[in-house]
Amino acid sequence: MDFMTRRSIRKYKDIPVEKEKIDEILKAALLAPTGRNSRPCEFVVIDDKDLIKEVAELREHGSSFVKDAPLVIGVMGEIGKSSTLLADCCIAGFAMQVKAHELGLGSCWVHVNERKTADGKSSEEFFREKTNTPDNFMVMCLIVIGYSAEEKPHYTEKDVNWNKVSYNKYGKR
Ligand SMILES: Cc1cc2nc3c(=O)[nH]c(=O)nc-3n(C[C@H](O)[C@H](O)[C@H](O)COP(=O)(O)O)c2cc1C
Repeated sequence: MDFMTRRSIRKYKDIPVEKEKIDEILKAALLAPTGRNSRPCEFVVIDDKDLIKEVAELREHGSSFVKDAPLVIGVMGEIGKSSTLLADCCIAGFAMQVKAHELGLGSCWVHVNERKTADGKSSEEFFREKTNTPDNFMVMCLIVIGYSAEEKPHYTEKDVNWNKVSYNKYGKR
């Protein structure tokens, strides 16, 4: 995985993601580390174009690009199953982004947890209703995936801020 070339991709070619690649991406999430190995995360894979268009409306801002994506994976955590539920879901979400990049796909995280729709409804509730997900799941994010239809500059050494790193004592470089 080359972290210099990974960027959030929000424009996708109108071609489906192959089933084998979707399975590889899901495997990365299903095998991701979780607190006490509690494995509280579940995933809803959405490849139905009409449903994708509906789900794209789950946020007031920041989710409209989702409507033209070929693939959306909702990352959810079963409430009460882990004391590290949010962290577990985030790690699973990013694991899928890393795997997608490795497979030559672009992806973007769309945050859902504690966000609202344009008419002030809970984005999590909106997602649960659209996908028949039970109420005992919190919805962390969507991982939106597809073949990139945009060019984004790669990161360079200038983007790596080593001042964020201390050795042994805070502030010691
Ligand atoms: C926790 C989290 C929430 C994010 N939420 C959104 C979002 O709701 N909509 C969106 O378009 N991008 C979202 N992003 C993507 C960020 O905007 C993006 O990662 C950031 O601008 C850095 O760009 P890069 O991923 O190309 O390095 C989110 C990323 C993270 C990690």
